Amino acid sequence: MFKCNLLIVEDNEDLCITLADVFRKNDFNVQTAFRTADAEQILRRDLIDLVILDLKLPDGSGLKVLDVVKDVDPDILVIMITANTHVEPAVEAMKSGAYDYIMKPFELDEVKLVVQKAVETQTLKREVARLKRQNETMFPKTDMFSVNKKMEEVKRMIKIVAETPRTSLLIEGESGTGKELVADALHEWSARASQPFIKVNCAAIPENLLESELFGHEKGAFTGADTMKKGLFEMANNGTIFLDEISSMQQSLQPKILRVLETQSFRRIGGVADIKLDVRIVAASNRDLQEMVNNGEFRDDLLYRLKVIVITLPPLRDRADDIIFLANIFIEANNREFNKSIQGLTSETKDLLLHYQWPGNVRELKNVMERAVILCDKPLIQAEHLPAELNDDLTNGVIKSLNGANPLGNGHFGSLADIEKMHIEYMLEQCSGNKSKTARELGISRSTLREKMKLYDIPG
Ligand SMILES: Nc1ncnc2c1ncn2[C@@H]1O[C@H](COP(=O)(O)OP(=O)(O)OP(=O)(O)O)[C@@H](O)[C@H]1O
Ligand SMILES: [Mg+2]
Repeated sequence: MFKCNLLIVEDNEDLCITLADVFRKNDFNVQTAFRTADAEQILRRDLIDLVILDLKLPDGSGLKVLDVVKDVDPDILVIMITANTHVEPAVEAMKSGAYDYIMKPFELDEVKLVVQKAVETQTLKREVARLKRQNETMFPKTDMFSVNKKMEEVKRMIKIVAETPRTSLLIEGESGTGKELVADALHEWSARASQPFIKVNCAAIPENLLESELFGHEKGAFTGADTMKKGLFEMANNGTIFLDEISSMQQSLQPKILRVLETQSFRRIGGVADIKLDVRIVAASNRDLQEMVNNGEFRDDLLYRLKVIVITLPPLRDRADDIIFLANIFIEANNREFNKSIQGLTSETKDLLLHYQWPGNVRELKNVMERAVILCDKPLIQAEHLPAELNDDLTNGVIKSLNGANPLGNGHFGSLADIEKMHIEYMLEQCSGNKSKTARELGISRSTLREKMKLYDIPG
C-alpha cells in the first residue's frame, strides 16, 4: 500500500506535535514546519501528497505556501486550518485551490476525518489519471498498431478520405481485422471529430426496427408511434455515421440509404418533408458484398455508390510481420492490466504464432495473448500457454513442412491435395515409416493409405 506523505505547517508547537503523532500512528509519513520558509523548502525538496496548513504563520500568510504548492504540484491536496474569527481568508484559500478547511478549535477526530476523505479523493484521482494515461499510451482509441506495408497504405487512405468533407467509405475485411478501428480513425482524423459519431450495428437491430432507428418517425406514423422520434441519421448530423455489418441490412431499406448518400437528405417514417442533413457515411462488412450482389442478396446500386472508396483490410495471416509485433504490444498491455512483467515469446511460441491461420484475426490474437499472459509464470511465454488450436501438432506439422523454410511466407498453402500429400509424408516420417501406425494416426485404413501413397507418388 502506498504511504501518504503528509506535511504539517503549524507554528503552535504543541498542536503540531499532537497532529504529527496522530498521523504517524495512522501510518502516514509526517514532516512538520513552523514557518512558510521551511514549508517551501520541504515542498520543493520532497514529494508531498497532502498538506495541513495553518493560515497564520510567524513569517507570513499560509496563502504563500498554497502558491508554492500550485507551483510544485497542483495535485497536492491542502487542508487549511483557520481561527474561527477568520472566515474570509479560509474562503479565499478555498478559491485559490485549497481542498478543505478546518476551524480552530477542533477535535482530532474531525481532522482525521477530513484527512481521510482527502486521501481517498487523491487515490481516486491518481487512479483515474493512471488509467487515462495507460489508455492513451497503449490504446489510443484510434491507433492501429502495425508495421505492415499494406496497413501503412490503409492509414494513408484513411487520411486522404478524412480530409474530404463528406466522401463515404466502405471498409471490407474478415472478422477481427480492425474495421471498427478504421472507422474510429476516420472520424477522429476528420474535421468532424468534435461532432457526433454514431455507430449502428445493422446485424444487432431487428430488421423491422432498423428503419425507424435510422430514420426516426413522425408522431402517429404507425401504431405505437405516440411521439415524434429522431433517428440515428439525424443524431449524427454534422458528424459521422458508421453502418457496421451493412451486409445484414434488409434489401427494402437499402434504397433509402442510397438516397441519403445521393441527396444528403432523408425523411422520417410518416413524414412528408425532406430533411437536409450533413453526415459522412462509413459502412463495413465482413462478407464480400460483390459476391452478395452476384447472388442477388445485396443491391448493386448501393454497392456501386458505396464502393467509390474501399479500404480492404488484409487478414492477419497475410501480414506475418504484424503477428509478433502486435503480440508484443498485447503482452505489454496485459502486463499492465494484470501487473505482470512478461518479457516476450520463446522462439517456439513465435513459430506457433506465425504458422497459425488466425481465422479471428487481430481480435483472436489479442485474446490469445491475454490468456497467455494470465497463464504464464515464466519470463517468456511458452507454447504451453497457447490454446490447443495453436498447439495442434498435426496441422502444425503440415503447415511447417509446407511453409517451414519461409515462416513469413505469403500464406499460400496450396491445394487440398497438396496438403493431403504433405500430411501423409509428415505422418509417415513421424511414425518412422510404419504404415499401420501411420494409417491409424490418420484415421484411415491401411489399404486407403496405400492407395493414396500411390496416387501421390509417395515412395515406401
Ligand atoms: N492494428 C491493430 N492494433 C491494435 N489492435 C487492433 C488492431 N486491429 C484490431 N485490433 C483490435 O482487435 C479487435 C477487433 O477489431 P475490430 O473490432 O476493429 O474488428 P472488426 O474488423 O470490426 O471485426 P468484426 O468484423 O468482427 O466486427 C479490437 O479489440 C481492436 O482493438
Ligand atoms: Mg466490427
